[in-house]
Amino acid sequence: MKENETVFTKKLDIQYSEPAAEVSFEEFDKVLRSRRSVRVFKDEPIADSDIDKAIEHGLLAPNSSNLQPWEFFVVKTPKIKEELARYCFSQNGAKTASHLIVCVARTNTWKEHCELMLKGFRDSGEEVPAVVEQYYKKIAPAAYGLIGPFGILSPFKWLLLNGIGLTKVMARGPVWPSDLKTWAVKSTALACENIMLSLRALGHDSLPMEGYDECRVKKLLGLGRHQHLVMIIGAGKRAEGGVYGPQVRFPKEKFVHQI
Ligand SMILES: Cc1cc2nc3c(=O)[nH]c(=O)nc-3n(C[C@H](O)[C@H](O)[C@H](O)COP(=O)(O)O)c2cc1C
Repeated sequence: MKENETVFTKKLDIQYSEPAAEVSFEEFDKVLRSRRSVRVFKDEPIADSDIDKAIEHGLLAPNSSNLQPWEFFVVKTPKIKEELARYCFSQNGAKTASHLIVCVARTNTWKEHCELMLKGFRDSGEEVPAVVEQYYKKIAPAAYGLIGPFGILSPFKWLLLNGIGLTKVMARGPVWPSDLKTWAVKSTALACENIMLSLRALGHDSLPMEGYDECRVKKLLGLGRHQHLVMIIGAGKRAEGGVYGPQVRFPKEKFVHQI
């Protein structure tokens, strides 16, 4: 790499091009605007294959460093689904859903996934570009690691990053275990939105839920301390009266700042 060049500024010399597909804004708009949180679903199961398709779309979500820090548990076994719905405070949306999808952010797979990224290049017979090698061998481990069990190293990492940051443009985190959780949750939430939009495009509906007893849900699924519940998505077909009212959004001026 040339002097003053970094993995972020170096332009890769690769022979690859991917033309943008023609798409219909109108169809996308219809999918997006007809997605509503459905509180009561019809007693009509949706095909497992459709859930598979929606989750596949979830897995295509953009995600930090392409480290894919997520996992999805599709709950369709009646007994477990019933128990899970009970842990969702017996919400009608959970009780009547055809499938429940438990969306989990993982904070302990990034190391393995760095290896998988490098392996992907090697398996394709391509030489791993030096910047990619550097990113997944050095930069990503420094960014997502150096935290230690229960954040024992976090104060040192904070001092290091903020010390360097006094004079240089510097990444400031993730530093604390909670930062790493936020890191994984961000990407997983994007996958969740893909899943819900995909369900709509397939003619189905959804309900994102964070109203649940986290401890009981984690115990039911046997999740550990590095597996963080992001939301549970109820999937099904909307029942008559299953949408409780028109979609309400505050004026966009409240949220959008033109600078
Ligand atoms: C992370 C998250 C958690 C939510 N949890 C619940 C929930 O537990 N129960 C529920 O009825 N709705 C839940 N919702 C749905 C919201 O209330 C709903 O998205 C909001 O009112 C806007 O309505 P709309 O989705 O129809 O546009 C949740 C939504 C999100 C994004």
